[in-house]
Amino acid sequence: MARNGQDQDPADILGKTCDTLRYMAEAGCTGFDCSGKTIEIVKNLDRNLSVAADYLKELRSLLGDCQRCKLCKERTNIVFGAGDPEARLVFVGEGPGYDEDQQGEPFVGKAGQLLTKIIQAINLTRAQVYICNIIKCRPPGNRNPASDEIKACFPFLEGQLDAIKPDFICALGTFAAQTLLDTVDPISRLRGRFFDLRGIKVMPTYHPAYLLRNPEKKRDVWEDMKKLMSMMDA
Ligand code: URA
Repeated sequence: MARNGQDQDPADILGKTCDTLRYMAEAGCTGFDCSGKTIEIVKNLDRNLSVAADYLKELRSLLGDCQRCKLCKERTNIVFGAGDPEARLVFVGEGPGYDEDQQGEPFVGKAGQLLTKIIQAINLTRAQVYICNIIKCRPPGNRNPASDEIKACFPFLEGQLDAIKPDFICALGTFAAQTLLDTVDPISRLRGRFFDLRGIKVMPTYHPAYLLRNPEKKRDVWEDMKKLMSMMDA
């Protein structure tokens, strides 16, 4: 049992301290004052910090070395998700590409670099949101995910959303929007509107990879992001 932090890994302690400070800032704490609001935040700190992060860790270990669908045969890494377990906003993409499969992290390739810029444009950082995909393993040759693959993976996305309990989801592209909203409507019809998913406001928009091929659509995505920002600020 650790006493006075002496038996604990310093990296763990540092990580927890950073999590704590980030959570406090996001919860509205502006400094170490003794206001009722800050005291309330500090009192609830442990409970709020541990629940979502622990739930996500448990979910990841439940996924294990997943063999639930055929994508396990050719993947290099499972790409579970990354970011703040307490995020108010979750970005959901389609599935890992080559770079993500290699690194085990979502949206780290060219489309990922554009997503990072989109996140920064709404005055957030990747660390302040959570980023994941409909499917956690790369389809060979970046083909579209098959329905049995989506079906096998979907409970884990639901688990992530149950853990994080975000207020908002930004669904990136056709697959994410259609899967989350259980519709076959095209992304051009879905984008720029808010939909309700069990109390979470879902804003579909174009996928960053589509924007790389069709840069003239960036204007539409910026319009969607402005709507998202003003709803998040409301
Ligand atoms: N495209 C996606 O949909 N997800 C990623 O993680 C990367 C590219």
